[in-house]
Amino acid sequence: MTTLGTPLSPSATRVMLLGSGELGKEVLIALQRLGVETIAVDRYENAPGQQVAHHARTITMSDPAQLKALIEAEKPQLVVPEIEAIATPMLQQLEDAGVVRVIPTARAARLTMDREGIRRLAAETLGVPTSPYKFCDSLEELQAAIDGGIGYPCIVKPVMSSSGKGQSKIDGPADVRKAWDYAMAGGRVSHGRVIVEGFIDFDYEITLLTVRALDASGSVQTHFCDPIGHVQVSGDYVESWQPHPMSPVALQKAQDIARKVTSDLGGQGLFGVELFVKGEQVWFSEVSPRPHDTGMVTMATQWQNEFELHARAILGLPVDTSLKSPGASAVVYGGVDATGIAFDGVAHALAVPGTELRLFGKPESFVKRRMGVALAHAADIDTARRNAKEAASRVKPRQA
Ligand SMILES: Nc1ncnc2c1ncn2[C@@H]1O[C@H](COP(=O)(O)OP(=O)(O)OP(=O)(O)O)[C@@H](O)[C@H]1O
Ligand SMILES: [Mg+2]
Repeated sequence: MTTLGTPLSPSATRVMLLGSGELGKEVLIALQRLGVETIAVDRYENAPGQQVAHHARTITMSDPAQLKALIEAEKPQLVVPEIEAIATPMLQQLEDAGVVRVIPTARAARLTMDREGIRRLAAETLGVPTSPYKFCDSLEELQAAIDGGIGYPCIVKPVMSSSGKGQSKIDGPADVRKAWDYAMAGGRVSHGRVIVEGFIDFDYEITLLTVRALDASGSVQTHFCDPIGHVQVSGDYVESWQPHPMSPVALQKAQDIARKVTSDLGGQGLFGVELFVKGEQVWFSEVSPRPHDTGMVTMATQWQNEFELHARAILGLPVDTSLKSPGASAVVYGGVDATGIAFDGVAHALAVPGTELRLFGKPESFVKRRMGVALAHAADIDTARRNAKEAASRVKPRQA
C-alpha cells in the first residue's frame, strides 16, 4: 500500500482501530498526519481515540455479529486491534474471506488474546525460554501443579486478563485458595482457567519494541528499538525509561527471541516483546502485536515513536527506530472515581525541565485508572526518571 489517498473522498485509505484508548489515540494521530481516513471503535462513547478520528463507532467488540456488521459497513482496508478483548475468530473469518487485512495478522490477534495461545507457541513450538508453567481449571489442579513441580513462589493469572487484573503471587500453601478466588474474580471472561507460572527472580524486565516493516524491495525486515526498562506494580506499569542498559550477550538473546516470536506471528507492524533478564539469561514473558503501554516513553526518546512506527509499518512505509535522547515516562492515575474530572498543577508539572504531558481525555476516572502520562527527556535515564516522576506527581486530578 504505497499509494495513500485523500480522506473523506473515494480515494481514501481507510483504517479502523478496534480499541481507542490512549495507545489507539496516538496511532490515530500518526495516521491522521499521513492523511489516512480513520474509524475509531470502542465500547464506550468519547473514548480518547474517538476524539481525534474522522469517525467514531461504539460497539461490543467481543460480539462477533456486531464486529462483522461494522467491518462490512465501513469497509476499511486495514483493521488494527488495539486491545485483546475482540472476537478474533470473526476477524480470522473476514481475513480468510479477503474482506479485510488484520494487523499484524488475524492469527496473531487470536493467539495473543489469551495467555495459553501465545505461551504454548513460544515455549512448545518455538522452544523459546519461559518461566515453567501449567494451565489449570480448578483449585485442585492448581494445587497439584504447584506440588508437581512449579513450586513456591509462583504467580497465578487468569488466561484472559491484562494490566495485572486477577493476578497474584503465591508465597506458600496458605495463599493458594486466595489466589484462585482472586483470579476467578479478575478474568475477562469467567471460564475459570488460569496459568500458574514459576516466579522468575529477574534483575530487570524490558519491553523490546520490534517492528516488521517493508524494505525498498518489498520484503519484510525486522527492526529493534532500544530496550525499554520498566517498573510494574501489581501487574500494571507505573514508569518506564529508554534505553535500558544491557550486556551485549543479553541484548543479542533478547533480539533473537523477539525475532523468532514476531516472525512466527508474521504480518507488518510493531510488537511489544516483554522479557525478563537475569545476568545473561533471558526469558520470554509475553508479546503485544501492537504498541505497548511502557513504550509511551518513545514519544520523548525516538525520532519516530512507537505509534508512528506502527502506522508506517502497517502502511508499508519505511521505518527508523533510532534513539533521539534518553528519556522516561511516569503514569498519572485518576486518584478519584468521578466523571469529567479536572487536572490542577499542569503548569507546575510542565515547569520541570524537558517534560511533556499527555492527558488522555477519558470521560470517566477511577482511582487506579491511567488518565495521563508524564514524559521527560534528559542527558541520562536517572535524571529523566526523576523528572518524569516529579512532573507526574505535580498533576493533581480532582472532581470537577
Ligand atoms: N513468572 C513471573 N515471574 C516474575 N514476575 C512475573 C512473572 N509473570 C509476571 N510477572 C510480573 O508481573 C508483571 C505483569 O505480568 P504479565 O505481563 O504477564 O501480566 P499482564 O496482565 O499481561 O500485564 P500487562 O497487560 O500490563 O502487560 C510482569 O511485567 C512482571 O513484572
Ligand atoms: Mg505484560
